[in-house]
Amino acid sequence: MSKVKAVWGCKACGHTQSKWSGSCPACKEWNTLNEEVLVQEDKRYIKGAVKKAQRLFEVEGSTSLRIETGMQELDKVLGGGVTKGGLYLVAGEPGIGKSTLMLQLASSLSQKGLNVLYVSGEESVEQTSLRAKRLGLGSSAIYLVSEIRYETIVSHIEQLNPDVLIIDSIQILYKDDLVSSPGSVAQVRELAMSFLHMSKTQSMSTFIIGHVTKSGDIAGPKILEHMVDCVIDFSGEGNLGYRMVRAHKNRFGPTDELALFHMADDGLKAVLNPSYRLMQERSVGLSGSCIVPVLEGTTPFLVEVQALVSPSAFSTSFRKSTGLDPTRLTLLLAVLEKRLGFALHGTDVFVSVAGGLKIFEPALDLGITLSIASSFCNKVIEAGTCVIGEVGLGGEIRSVSRLDKRVKEAVEMGFTRAIVPKKGMGLLPKDLPSQFKVLGVSTVEEAFNAVMS
Ligand SMILES: Nc1ncnc2c1ncn2[C@@H]1O[C@H](COP(=O)(O)OP(=O)(O)OP(=O)(O)O)[C@@H](O)[C@H]1O
Ligand SMILES: [Mg+2]
Repeated sequence: MSKVKAVWGCKACGHTQSKWSGSCPACKEWNTLNEEVLVQEDKRYIKGAVKKAQRLFEVEGSTSLRIETGMQELDKVLGGGVTKGGLYLVAGEPGIGKSTLMLQLASSLSQKGLNVLYVSGEESVEQTSLRAKRLGLGSSAIYLVSEIRYETIVSHIEQLNPDVLIIDSIQILYKDDLVSSPGSVAQVRELAMSFLHMSKTQSMSTFIIGHVTKSGDIAGPKILEHMVDCVIDFSGEGNLGYRMVRAHKNRFGPTDELALFHMADDGLKAVLNPSYRLMQERSVGLSGSCIVPVLEGTTPFLVEVQALVSPSAFSTSFRKSTGLDPTRLTLLLAVLEKRLGFALHGTDVFVSVAGGLKIFEPALDLGITLSIASSFCNKVIEAGTCVIGEVGLGGEIRSVSRLDKRVKEAVEMGFTRAIVPKKGMGLLPKDLPSQFKVLGVSTVEEAFNAVMS
């Protein structure tokens, strides 16, 4: 017989305790304990005979553990395809395109002869089917079910024995033996544990769609991210701009690869040449615009950093950044004030990465600094110039990874000059065209003088 009792669960770390307290004793966060009401105590995840421990070299590995999805960009992010028995968490803002991406993936995998079960708790089968028709996926053999009760989903899995299971979304499902509501810490944790067990024992690749909270974190306990093999972060600026897919955690592949998509009427389309697309939309002849070759994983591409510096209307000045680290912006503003003597205290500063992209790599620093300087001085940075470099607190320019790849991308995109860290110049490609000029700089001041002269 199962026993039940009331518990308080921390929504930040998943810790449970019998009494309420203001802060969680495990993670020390405040006001994170929610009443989880009744939780079954005597649950067993391991059934049947206990397996004998094996020596590492005795374990037989299969070479066909990975399945290419047929979506090249997604494969790159996953590390070469979907792993058999892998548990994937796909998280993103409402309306970003999670269901669309998963339906396209389901179609692609089913065309490879895999048995795919798509469980939609949020939409009816008719709605999912209408979306599939709009995306031109009507004829593919995918099993659809609209269900939110875990036990019924299990019976569908037993009946169909799918190779790939897609759950849309975990926050809407519930288990009978927990009386807390769908989306609660206990429900999400128990459901994830059950899907994990099922995926590993049945070699079924499982994709779980997860919601994000207002602050951008994945809804539910932090333990959810620990349990899964891969956390896929799906982000972008609502209906505008590009959709970015990154693996925020990946047990079977890289975590720094980026796949860029754009949402069209017939679904998500991969942006295969991001630099070309982004440079077509750039603003030429305007102050505050600076081009930076960034590197996400193995893919270099050019992004435009835009800054606007205007006099503050209020006593407290306003700083706002979109698509880049706000702490970095504060630091770079301090460097401009201290090392170049810019009086930025009475100004509002807005900086963004064009196209709704989110770039957090240090090589963007010099681009941010010079775009602010350009807007502040109202001087245009020459259209054929791109800048690369990390900025230190002393105003020094530090070297960045794979300078050669970044510079080559700038050359291919028709740029004529690159401002790069002096220290990393030894890593430049030897076969640069003679009309392409590279200038090594060691301080922000040198870089400023080079682009503004
Ligand atoms: N008829 C349409 N034509 C073009 N684009 C559409 C159309 N319908 C939806 N979209 C696009 O698809 C997006 C919604 O995609 P989707 O339903 O896959 O998002 P989601 O992340 O699953 O959302 P939710 O969190 O609500 O489940 C919309 O924001 C819009 O950009
Ligand atoms: Mg959806």
